[in-house]
Amino acid sequence: MTEPYVVVPPVAGKILNDRSGNDTSSPNPHDDTLDELQQGLLAPTAQVSPKFLYDALGSRLFEAICELPEYYPTRTEAAIFELHGEDIAAATGTGVTLIDLGAGNCAKAARLFPSLLPRQYVPVDISVDFLGAAVEGLRQRFPQLPIQEVGMDFSSVLALPDSVQREHRLFFYPGSSLGNFAPAEALQFLRRLRQALPTGEAGGVLLGVDLVKAPTLLNAAYDDELGVTAAFNLNLLRHLNRLLDADFALRDWQHRGFFNAKLQRVEMHLEARRDVLVHWRNGGQRRFQQGERIHTESSYKFTAEGFADLLGQAGFGEISQWFDPQRWFMVCHARAV
Ligand code: AVJ
Repeated sequence: MTEPYVVVPPVAGKILNDRSGNDTSSPNPHDDTLDELQQGLLAPTAQVSPKFLYDALGSRLFEAICELPEYYPTRTEAAIFELHGEDIAAATGTGVTLIDLGAGNCAKAARLFPSLLPRQYVPVDISVDFLGAAVEGLRQRFPQLPIQEVGMDFSSVLALPDSVQREHRLFFYPGSSLGNFAPAEALQFLRRLRQALPTGEAGGVLLGVDLVKAPTLLNAAYDDELGVTAAFNLNLLRHLNRLLDADFALRDWQHRGFFNAKLQRVEMHLEARRDVLVHWRNGGQRRFQQGERIHTESSYKFTAEGFADLLGQAGFGEISQWFDPQRWFMVCHARAV
């Protein structure tokens, strides 16, 4: 997520394959995607952006993660919405244009429909095929609700089609996905959301935020006993094999997931089990020594105060925060000011 990533503005009315070729499930990805991946793989500490975790199987594995007893965020966030749903709806207002960033299976947003009574629902996701299937189901369940799905990578550019209403926009970014950005990038991202909200009109953000907590809880959540998170992480190598014509052998790699207390973030890595040589398209290659790692995800954890600060810097105010009783997770609403 450090490289600028050009996204062609979407066309209204249907799911798009990003015409710049950044559809990461495409067998013929655009040069930008290949350059980005290659650069990351050749860096002194190899790295791949977490957005490449979400091919069709990766999105399903993430759904499975959300069912794990160790993975508290999804459950805890849902409990906060249950517990404080009325207050949350009172803060956001009703009749919103609900823009769901990283919508996935759209289940979280759908649970808010009865209280937020959206005038338009705009699910946005990088995993285009997965989103398409989810939206099909939603149209049957909510035939009255105008839905404008958008398939795009919004991590560096937010290009919403003109058919997305401007009135009463509410950006919904649950699950603490904001934690995937480094702090400076998170600020930039929030500023972009702020800019996409018309001034002088009701508009805001509704965010799920994971909080700093005991490392044992965090380590278990990102390295579960069943190995689902390991499969989710390793599946990224299959995705790379397709995108890059690479020859990663999954058995040569193992999942690492742990809390880095100094940087207040969980890190996921893929670690070489032995010395390996990996090749990819156009003669690219890299040798990895046993124990060498590819950094695949950072998931930053916040404090309530630190996060309110960040929102303030991004141009938001009138901040409300709701917590679960253990204070593991937070839902946050803020208005564009
Ligand atoms: C979807 C980015 C919020 O960081 O907790 C879950 C992804 N990675 N298990 C997270 C994830 C490993 C998740 N986010």
